[in-house]
Amino acid sequence: MQTRRQLLTAAAVMAAPAILKGAKGYTWAEVEKILASGKVQGRLTKDDLPTPALLLNMDAFEANVKKMSSYVLSRGRGFRPHGKTHKCPNIAHHLVKNGAVGTCAAKLSEAEVFSANGLQNLLVTTAVVGKYKIERAMRLATRRPDTIFVVDNTQNLRDMNDAAAAGKIKLNLAVDLLVGNRTGIRSGDPAVALVEAMQSLSNVRFQGLQAYAGHASHVIGFEPRKKKSGELMGEAVETRRMLEKKGIACNWLSGGSTGTYNIDSEIDGVTELQPGSFMFMDVDYNRIGGSDGNAHYSDFANSLTVMATVVSKPTDSIAIVDAGLKAFSTDKPFPPETKDKMPVTYAYGGDEHGKLTLGQGAHPFQVGDKLEFIIPHCDPSVNLYDKIFCVRGDKVEATWAIAARGMSQ
Ligand SMILES: Cc1ncc(COP(=O)(O)O)c(C=O)c1O
Repeated sequence: MQTRRQLLTAAAVMAAPAILKGAKGYTWAEVEKILASGKVQGRLTKDDLPTPALLLNMDAFEANVKKMSSYVLSRGRGFRPHGKTHKCPNIAHHLVKNGAVGTCAAKLSEAEVFSANGLQNLLVTTAVVGKYKIERAMRLATRRPDTIFVVDNTQNLRDMNDAAAAGKIKLNLAVDLLVGNRTGIRSGDPAVALVEAMQSLSNVRFQGLQAYAGHASHVIGFEPRKKKSGELMGEAVETRRMLEKKGIACNWLSGGSTGTYNIDSEIDGVTELQPGSFMFMDVDYNRIGGSDGNAHYSDFANSLTVMATVVSKPTDSIAIVDAGLKAFSTDKPFPPETKDKMPVTYAYGGDEHGKLTLGQGAHPFQVGDKLEFIIPHCDPSVNLYDKIFCVRGDKVEATWAIAARGMSQ
């Protein structure tokens, strides 16, 4: 004989609809068609999206772009945001419409995607090394003669010049300075010598200096950050002065980041800012502290989230979501945070899962519930997704291809 509980469960199963319906009553086949058409506006809501999904809150994104652009431009600096953050031609075009002089690309293959999607004035911020890549760089420079490449090595400079001579073109080359702890030639005499070598070659044109002080950008606390960036960028400005003293015109010095935009754009001699993360923000940047003395860096809003679904509720205080190691980059020592600052802690639960521990007063998540997370580190997380869903409130406004996703060559 069946118990009352078994009878109730059987009745509930029988009462379930034959086809589960989404928020608007669509079937998946209908959602799929809408997504494939790209015409999502007015037709889909967040609830219709398959998870894990990368979402862009358009109100926050647009405000971030306006704020950064107007700040940098009002200081008389060029604004060339870094495309390594978004890898998305739609976003690059939006930035250009909002005052960007061009787009940075970390790698050649990223620049190729931007170029193929109609973007101009590209700056490839890492050196192009090796025969095949240099051939590709020549192809890009032939198509987009306004592209700037960087060098920090005499042999690489000669290789670039020889390839340009063979292709009968003139390349725009900047010298990448070691102001961080990564690539670049040492500021001062070594950099000046490289510029002089460049000037003796006939198929390259000296564009100026690049100085990206990456390890200043996340220094916690505005004053220590200002000190660090001031010291590092000061070396670049001094190199610029040394060149000018020798009669070598150097009217371009590009660098800066989301954490130092309001520091570097106040330094005399820095002519262009190349921040990236400001448009999205992430947990890492939220923690660096603002010029207002607040521990939370609130100059830019968190526009980027990953939406996940609760797929299991093993106990009252544990909920499992469908976003794990493959949904977030895991290079930071802290986990994703819930967008709504819930008393919930996230722990990676494997490739496909995340384990939420629900604290006192947390929403008692049930299987099927959705929630959004702020990402620990935006750039490598974006690189995990094919597309980004642009949302305003609950409505999905557009889907943008992250066309340079995976382009790390
Ligand atoms: C060369 C270069 N410039 C600019 C940026 C942008 O920095 P952020 O995302 O901190 O604004 C980066 C980021 O890694 C970079 O590598």
